[in-house]
Amino acid sequence: MTNYLNTANSAQIKTVVVPAAGHGTRFLPATKTVPKELLPVVDTPGIELIAEEAAELGASRMAIITSPSKPGLLRHFEDFPELVSTLQARGKHEQVAMVERAGRLIEPVSVVQHEALGLGHAVGLAESALDDDEEAFAVMLPDDLVLPFGVLEQMAEVRASFGGSVLCAFEVTPEEVSSYGVFEVMEICPDEGLPTETVKQVIGMVEKPPAAEAPSRLAAAGRYLLDRAVFDALRRIKPGQGGELQLTDAIELMIKEGHPVHVVIHQGKRHDLGNPAGYIPACVDFGLSHPKYGRALRDTIGAVLQEYDDREASLA
Ligand code: UTP
Repeated sequence: MTNYLNTANSAQIKTVVVPAAGHGTRFLPATKTVPKELLPVVDTPGIELIAEEAAELGASRMAIITSPSKPGLLRHFEDFPELVSTLQARGKHEQVAMVERAGRLIEPVSVVQHEALGLGHAVGLAESALDDDEEAFAVMLPDDLVLPFGVLEQMAEVRASFGGSVLCAFEVTPEEVSSYGVFEVMEICPDEGLPTETVKQVIGMVEKPPAAEAPSRLAAAGRYLLDRAVFDALRRIKPGQGGELQLTDAIELMIKEGHPVHVVIHQGKRHDLGNPAGYIPACVDFGLSHPKYGRALRDTIGAVLQEYDDREASLA
């Protein structure tokens, strides 16, 4: 039996749901054969970074919603005995640890979504993976890196005060607001002992509003702490934007019906691994801090920038 590395769970979250059955069209042609969740940030696939965050949270299982065309996702968490014994025979112990790491982080459970009917549909399928006594569960979108880890612990504290569901936001510029789901919020009562600058009550959500109509500059990030009541809401919504069952629509329905929904405004960094424009900066960021590659990468990037600037100057 595998001994997983899960740390103490002050957040009391047992299951983390990782929806990973989308088509990844913004990352074509790579995603014809490679799931975007397996694309490496330096050398580690995004899904392994998510497993690391889930293990640090102290969750005991990660329910990966996957499609039949993406068997590699679960495979990444399995044992590779032949590779390990070859590496051991060659004395490559560092690489052995790298191969074994993913499988030791957290117990992966597979839930198959046969058709990509939307994020809401994918999350709805996770109900079968939860125990009867699980009143709440986390959702982590694998193409969203929210750094440093720990925002779900803060979200669990908010649920402990207010109950209901807790979402995660980050502040964007007015120019960026139309690319995101945007929260309409109101202040919380200061008596709760929670930081009023970073915790707000959500009273509405708008998907990709024009800048002039955006209710705030607080955009949704891919971390959710959802009450089990979401499954009932998900069963009652109709296909929304893009003809897909949207998680946002279920949350909006819950808010309308009086379910408490709050948001934690994340103070750290966020990388969107779902498209090249976000993935490349993530690789540069992780690469620059990497003990093995950081120094050389800094020099290379400096040289590339210099070459680029010289070329631009010569064309001016
Ligand atoms: P995205 O819309 O970002 O992912 O969904 P996508 O559909 O794979 O990407 P594009 O837009 O075609 O480039 C957010 C998350 O929800 C999952 C995706 O895998 C992604 O992690 N998802 C989406 C599902 O699991 N099932 C779905 O039906 C839709």
